[in-house]
Amino acid sequence: MIYNWKNNINEIELNDVSNSIKNGEIVVMPTETVYGVGADLFNEDAIKKIFMAKNRPATNPLIVHIGNKNEIDMVAQKPNEIEQALIDAFMPGPFTIILKKKDCIPDIVSAGLDTIGVRMPSNEIANRIITKVGNPIVLPSANISGRPSGTRVEDIFEELESKVYAIVDGGESPIGLESTVVKVVDNVPVILRPGKITPEDIIKVVGKCELDKNIFQKPADVVDAQMPGSKLEHYVSKLECNLICGQNNDKIIDKIKEIIQQRDGKVAIIAFEDIIEKIDISKDRLFPISRTDNIEKDELEYAEKLYRYIREAENTDSDLILIQGVKEEGLGVAIMNRLLRTSSFKIINVD
Ligand code: TXA
Ligand code: MG
Repeated sequence: MIYNWKNNINEIELNDVSNSIKNGEIVVMPTETVYGVGADLFNEDAIKKIFMAKNRPATNPLIVHIGNKNEIDMVAQKPNEIEQALIDAFMPGPFTIILKKKDCIPDIVSAGLDTIGVRMPSNEIANRIITKVGNPIVLPSANISGRPSGTRVEDIFEELESKVYAIVDGGESPIGLESTVVKVVDNVPVILRPGKITPEDIIKVVGKCELDKNIFQKPADVVDAQMPGSKLEHYVSKLECNLICGQNNDKIIDKIKEIIQQRDGKVAIIAFEDIIEKIDISKDRLFPISRTDNIEKDELEYAEKLYRYIREAENTDSDLILIQGVKEEGLGVAIMNRLLRTSSFKIINVD
């Protein structure tokens, strides 16, 4: 069943969605980052349905999603001063904090860890559903494990429609990448998964921030994982993907042309428009990102379109997707963290 709430939230359907979650059903819903598939935090059978529907390894814990900040106290031990400053600054929003969990958290949620990830979405639909359910929900990304997260209903339908009670359509996810996951270790915020909230944003609030050493690491090479998800393959495309990196546009363009020839034209390309403009293949294989003099704005667009573009590129009868890399700065840290995984760390460096 699909509920269309793109223009407004239907109150009768909202009752149905929240009641169904309370009764142990699972429901796909939008958030500001990506779509999630939600279940009542305290209903283990419902949570099992999520693991089944996503084919998610039991070792990968779920993030608890709350409707207001008071609910942190329901699920986690009292935050310390730094954790509280981050909560005050970034909740609600695309931000998840790892805290010591309370005993009421079912083991299936935390995968046996003594911590719990907590996030408060700013998306109105997600917030209204959680609030109406009356207690926190779990809400992993709406995709089969290992695939790119769903950022619009058209992309989620095929993977999950038959496995959930309902899909709530709230239009395209405005951010397009999953939340920034942060754990405070010895009073230093450590980013375990980069997202829209950047290291610079965190430094502005508490004066310090580190990136976890596994952020740019292949899953097979991860040791001492602070985040179980970092040991799993993520955001993987059905097609072979190569990441193309370099400072010099002419060299990137030459390389792309060479690869198109080698592959008899069966290539899809996700890149900034100043590259795309110079590539002479059919338009439906080209996936452009705006290139203006405001790189921050362009990278926001890149994040927003990335997963949708990967899925669209998969449907172009191509053998290979070429994806242009970005600098690992600001939001570029999050984009590259995803792109490296999508391309299984296959990088063509043209510099
Ligand atoms: O933006 C988001 O966070 C989206 C939307 C739907 O809210 N949700 C999401 O959930 O991305 P999921 O389950 O797809 O990713 C959660 C990640 C996993 O990599 C998991 O390993 C990690 O968070 N995680 C969960 N609990 C953790 C914990 N206690 N300690 C460390 N990492 C944890
Ligand atoms: Mg996920």
